[in-house]
Amino acid sequence: MAIVVTGAAGFIGFNVSRLLLARGEEVIGIDNINDYYSVELKENRLAEIKNNPAFTFLKLDFSDFDALKSALDQHDVTKIVHLGAQAGVRYSLTNPFVYAQSNLIGHLNIMEYARHKKGFEHLVYASSSSVYGGNKNMPFSIDDRVDNPVSLYAATKKADELMSQSYAHLYRMPQTGLRFFTVYGPWGRPDMAMWIFTEKILAGEPIPVFNHGDMLRDFTFIDDIVDGIVRCLDNPPKDDGTMHTIGSNAPHRIYNIGNDNTVKLLDMIKVLEDCLGQKAEMNLLPIQPGDVKETAADITAIQNDLGFEPKTKIEEGIPKFIHWYKQYHKIN
Ligand SMILES: NC(=O)c1ccc[n+]([C@@H]2O[C@H](COP(=O)([O-])OP(=O)(O)OC[C@H]3O[C@@H](n4cnc5c(N)ncnc54)[C@H](O)[C@@H]3O)[C@@H](O)[C@H]2O)c1
Repeated sequence: MAIVVTGAAGFIGFNVSRLLLARGEEVIGIDNINDYYSVELKENRLAEIKNNPAFTFLKLDFSDFDALKSALDQHDVTKIVHLGAQAGVRYSLTNPFVYAQSNLIGHLNIMEYARHKKGFEHLVYASSSSVYGGNKNMPFSIDDRVDNPVSLYAATKKADELMSQSYAHLYRMPQTGLRFFTVYGPWGRPDMAMWIFTEKILAGEPIPVFNHGDMLRDFTFIDDIVDGIVRCLDNPPKDDGTMHTIGSNAPHRIYNIGNDNTVKLLDMIKVLEDCLGQKAEMNLLPIQPGDVKETAADITAIQNDLGFEPKTKIEEGIPKFIHWYKQYHKIN
């Protein structure tokens, strides 16, 4: 019995694969290793796990249904953690079609594959805090309406949730959607603020600080996220009449998964400076289209249902990221 992890060469998918392998699971990783950011980083992540005999890597594009189906046909897949996607809010302003291809067609393909697979148990998939878009009520609750996306990326993630709801209703296929809130840590993403700031501070270059620094985020450490994903994976929603969403007993849950400790962007920069022992020169800029000023996660649902507790504060998580970053780049 194997667990498929899509986006296995990506930041979160790699870390989930590594933990599943460590606890003795058979893992099939899927990724097309696209060049949205460094291909070398994706390959280096895979190099950490590819020698494990319980790991199989399939380089393919899951938006190609025939390729996906034929590559998985001979495997006994019971669960999927679908983390592969075109991520990034800003990139969706200039490259909309790749979001439709990977996030809409890709999500549909994963569900279509799963619903025809005999003995299939659970699909856990990535959504995003960006679905809350321009909502003003804080903290963001899973009971809030999310009809106001401010980027195409966010709109595709909300569409994924709706598609999943229809498949859970029609085919009683157990699914859990996770709205991630700004994940960071070792093996992180070079397109995200913490990596960009670190790179620029070390190079003595100014860092771009949007909305003049007036931003708030629930920075969530990767180990906490992986722990939450695996808790979900092990506990599929029941199809026993329980109401999982407003007005529906379909076996589909959506959770916020993030830190419940919202941090000011300027405080994050301060911790980075302390950790690097260097002052940041800040280039204060207006907010970018597609960005939101504030995110704050209400995580009571996943806390109550699954005992999820994010443990890592930025004062502990940022030094771990910097330690890894310097080691990876051979910086003393
Ligand atoms: N990291 C965060 O802070 C964050 C926040 C909110 C939501 N998310 C979501 O979580 C998931 C994982 O994010 P991540 O940070 O690991 O991103 P990532 O970009 O590091 O990983 C995604 C991986 O998916 C692969 N991929 C993309 N399209 C593909 C396709 N069509 N076929 C096969 N592989 C494909 C990419 O090559 C990449 O390795 C994504 O769905 C993302 O939208 C992440």
